Formats: sequence, structure tokens, C-alpha cells
Amino acid sequence: MDFTNDRKRVYIFDTTLRDGEQSPGCSMSVPEKLRMAHKLVELGVDILEAGFPIASEGDYEAVREISRAMPEVRVAALARATRLDVERAASALEPCSRPRIHTFIATSDIHLKFKLRKSRQQVLEDACKAVELARQFTGDVEFSAEDAMRTDLDYLEQVSKAVVAAGAGTVNLPDTVGYSTPAEHAAMIQRIDKALEGKAILSVHCHNDLGLATANSLAAVVAGARQIECTINGIGERAGNCALEEVVMIMKVRNDQYPFETGIRTEHLYPASQMLSGIITFGPQPNKALVGANAFAHEAGIHQDGYLKEKSTYEIIDPQMVGIPEGRLVLGKHSGRHALRSKCELLGYNLTKDELDAVYSGFIAIADRKKGVTDNEILGLIRAMKGGEHTVHLSDAASAD
Ligand code: KIV
Ligand code: ZN
Repeated sequence: MDFTNDRKRVYIFDTTLRDGEQSPGCSMSVPEKLRMAHKLVELGVDILEAGFPIASEGDYEAVREISRAMPEVRVAALARATRLDVERAASALEPCSRPRIHTFIATSDIHLKFKLRKSRQQVLEDACKAVELARQFTGDVEFSAEDAMRTDLDYLEQVSKAVVAAGAGTVNLPDTVGYSTPAEHAAMIQRIDKALEGKAILSVHCHNDLGLATANSLAAVVAGARQIECTINGIGERAGNCALEEVVMIMKVRNDQYPFETGIRTEHLYPASQMLSGIITFGPQPNKALVGANAFAHEAGIHQDGYLKEKSTYEIIDPQMVGIPEGRLVLGKHSGRHALRSKCELLGYNLTKDELDAVYSGFIAIADRKKGVTDNEILGLIRAMKGGEHTVHLSDAASAD
């Protein structure tokens, strides 16, 4: 493992293509995952979880293709704690020069009793066996104690120590059902961090069922966790995962409170968010922190007045820090190819001249019919031009996104 022991460095483990992708409306084809993976690498994520190879042929192919296209990237593949799963993950990761096998099993009594129908001892043995097997394929093994947050702490400590002794370099403690609070999360991390004596990196994976995923992840970092599992736009099972853009920007903007560093190039956050929105069936809600359409919009007269006199009266972040250009481009029928090209680039597409010409003619047709062309309409035109299955739906709102 080439991870540093720098206590300030927090590793960003992106699971947009795995936990994110497995939620409703978010499925992606292999080429779409590959395109998104390139963007995530440009963004600077440390670990890219590309899929769950045993789950489907598509997931297997995605992990393999991403590993093949970007062999230098640390790609993770998910596997339950079984021989079949671990071997399938290892096979998908073969082309990767920095593969991570991420194996997991539930540890809470409620999961043991109703889902796994196994004893604590059996789960402990399965976990260690899976880690040992994974270590035969790679030196980089992560173990997740699914539903860690609702697991008895003595048992969680026992499992964590055992998997590290078996060879896991990262121990992830997910709040699988989004039940935790920041204080509880901090207490759990502190306890396990002390028990592991620095022998492994502690990781958090928070779901957002109570809207606390970001707060819980940050509380965990303050308590000693050094890896955050998160997704672009916070997509993921049910209410989603911790939003990558939120944890990263909080540590950057409020570094006085959270004195940690990540390797994220924040100016790629908005383009990554836009690219994802163009691939899956929905974008972030308009008032979503940092990447929503209204995140930097000032509407109220008093706010506009203050903002025009001095931006910092009502704006705590320069939008350019997250990749939103100054003076957001509103495209209409008077916009030329140059403006359209810039917008396409911002949305994550570098078009050839012919591709731009094709998108431009569709763009002018829409612009002739209504005031302002929205980002979603442009994304629809790009997808239609690239032969995707989507059709372009006109939006009523003039340039609302
Ligand atoms: O939420 C969860 O527990 C997970 C694990 C598989 C890491 O996604
Ligand atoms: Zn999850």
C-alpha cells in the first residue's frame, strides 16, 4: 500500500459507480461508466469503486474495462465474503495494477438473525476467510462490516481486529441504514481506532436516510477515520450516500474547523456533477449545496443589492472553486457555436467540429421556439447526437438549470 500516514490526509473513496449505480434511475452502461470513471480520475478521487462483479455481467465488464483503460488508477471491486464473489472480483480486476478487493459481511445481530441466519462466530470466520483469500490476489484489501452502526461494539471491535490480523488494510464501518448521529458515529470510530492501534485505515460509509450522511462522515474524520466513501450528487441506495462535493468542500472552506486535506481538484466538481446528471435519469435538486442550479443564484432584492456591492456579503464560496464559471452562461438563440462549445465542455463533453455542428442545429431549433435552452436540453441533444436512446424534451422554464 502506498498510503501516507499523514494524519491530515483524508482519502476519497468514490462509489458513484457501485452504490450510486445500484439505486433506482441510476443504472449505467459500460461505456457510460467508463466515461464517468475518466471524469472521477480527473477529479482526483483516491479509490474508484467500479462495481460488484458477481452481481451482473455488466458490473463485471465495467470493472474490467475501467481497470484496462486506466491501469494506474486504484480500482475497487465489491465482493460478499464468499469464495465465489472474491474470485469474481479478483478476475475482473486482473488488468489493474493497483486493485483493491472490497469484501463485506453484515455484523449486526438483526442482519445475522434475519438475513444471514448465522452466528457471530460464523460471520467472524467468513470475514477472515474472505480477507485471507482476497490477499492471495492483492495486497490492498478492504473489509466492510455491513450495518456496523447497529452492531454490538464489543463484537465490532473483535471483528475489526480479526480482519486486520487476516490482512485487511482498510476497515470500513458503514451506517448502512442511515440511522446514526454525529456523536454516535464519533464514539464508534474512536473506539475502533483505539483498538486497531494504527494498523489499518478506518473508513466511513454513511447513508443519508436522516439527512446526516455528511455530518456523520465529518464527525468520523474528526474521531480518526481517514477514508470517506461517498458519491457525486450523493446518489446511492434509498436517500443516497454522503455527497462527495459536500464533504470535500466543507473540509476546504472550513479548514479552520476540519483541518484535513483531500486530493480532490475541486474545480472539477460541477463538471462531474453535470456529467453524472446527463448519464442517469435525474440531476441534483435545484437547491442542492454546491452543485444545484440555485446554489449560487441570488434572487431576493436585498441579497442582489448586497451581492452586487460586495460578493462576500451573500456568497461564502467563489463558484469557480467548484468549476462554475463566473457569470453563468445562459444560452439562447443569439448564442454562437463558441458559447455552445464552452457549455458542452462544462457539461463534460469535448465535441469534434462535426459533433458540435450536429448539436448546434438542434440547439437553434429549440432556441427558436422558446426563451433560453436548459442544460438538460443540451445534454439531451448531445445524447441524441451520440446515438443514445433519449429524446429531447423541451422544458417550460427558461434556462432554469
Ligand atoms: O451500505 C453499505 O453497507 C454498503 C457496503 C457494501 C459497504 O454499501
Ligand atoms: Zn452503501
